[in-house]
Amino acid sequence: MAPSVIIIGASGTVGRPLVQEFLKNKTRFGRIAVLADPTKVSRFTDVQSQGVEVVVGSFLEANSYKGFDTVISLTGNTAMKLQPGMIDAAIAGGVRHFYPSELGTDSYVAIGKRRYFRDKIATREHLRDRAHEVPGFAYTLLMTGAFTEFVPSPFNNVDIENHTAVSYGVPDALISVTALPDIVRYVVESVLLPLEQDKSCRELRVAGETLTWATLIETLGEVQGVKYHVTYLDPREAAEKEETARVAGNTDAEMLWAGKMLFSTGVAHLAGPLDNARFSFTPENAKETLQRLIGKK
Ligand SMILES: NC(=O)c1ccc[n+]([C@@H]2O[C@H](COP(=O)([O-])OP(=O)(O)OC[C@H]3O[C@@H](n4cnc5c(N)ncnc54)[C@H](OP(=O)(O)O)[C@@H]3O)[C@@H](O)[C@H]2O)c1
Repeated sequence: MAPSVIIIGASGTVGRPLVQEFLKNKTRFGRIAVLADPTKVSRFTDVQSQGVEVVVGSFLEANSYKGFDTVISLTGNTAMKLQPGMIDAAIAGGVRHFYPSELGTDSYVAIGKRRYFRDKIATREHLRDRAHEVPGFAYTLLMTGAFTEFVPSPFNNVDIENHTAVSYGVPDALISVTALPDIVRYVVESVLLPLEQDKSCRELRVAGETLTWATLIETLGEVQGVKYHVTYLDPREAAEKEETARVAGNTDAEMLWAGKMLFSTGVAHLAGPLDNARFSFTPENAKETLQRLIGKK
């Protein structure tokens, strides 16, 4: 039977293009819906007119999920810790397949419960426990590495006007990158890939390209027709600032400093075998994406 999908966080960076990708594939799904907080319904008027259902309700109540078999959560950092409650409500509402808000790396368990990933790890643990208890319940962890779009950004101290980067890490740190238009295609196609009968956790790893941070910045320079000046700093400095922010109770600053250690330390490298071949398209490599975004015409 064609899957019926409801999306949490459909108004965000990933949510908006993902809804459009689902619309392109509308005939392959039973129902496509976004879950909307009652105070924020108006932001979905446009997609509703294009054929997306808008379910108005709480993310933490079973009723919101009735009639859907698959939930895709795209909650952002601040709401990430609410996902266990969403999962419980979704299961109670009859959902049997949950995508937690991931779309990143698979190596963070190995590097400890760093702040940036703390709530994602707790969500994974909750999913594992619930899948043990609920027969027929499964979940998908879809990992894409870093978004290529986030490379040329102040998030990583990359300045595309002055052609400088100040990176907490090392030049040869590996990073896997995938472009957002490809990420949403992976999400939609993955829902249509059959789940294995006896497995409750499905892990999918996909990437546009894996390269070193230094090569990635060189590539950025190439598409802009310039050479970047890169300064490397010890990631421990950023970790100390993260800790200072944590002690001061400044969560935004804590996340900001945690984020600065993601791209040039190897954390965003997808080391395992990739599942790209299970999908119908070839993703953009880093150069193609950067060219599309900021290349010299
Ligand atoms: N690997 C990478 O480089 C990378 C880059 C970006 C994102 N990501 C990942 O992609 C996923 C989605 O991120 P994003 O950038 O699309 O996030 P985002 O732009 O911050 O959007 C988050 C969405 O969650 C909604 N939300 C906020 N509070 C909520 C609540 N209490 N309950 C339910 N929903 C709530 C937001 O709605 P409102 O607008 O109403 O607040 C918004 O629609 C995350 O897992 C993120 O880590 C990965």
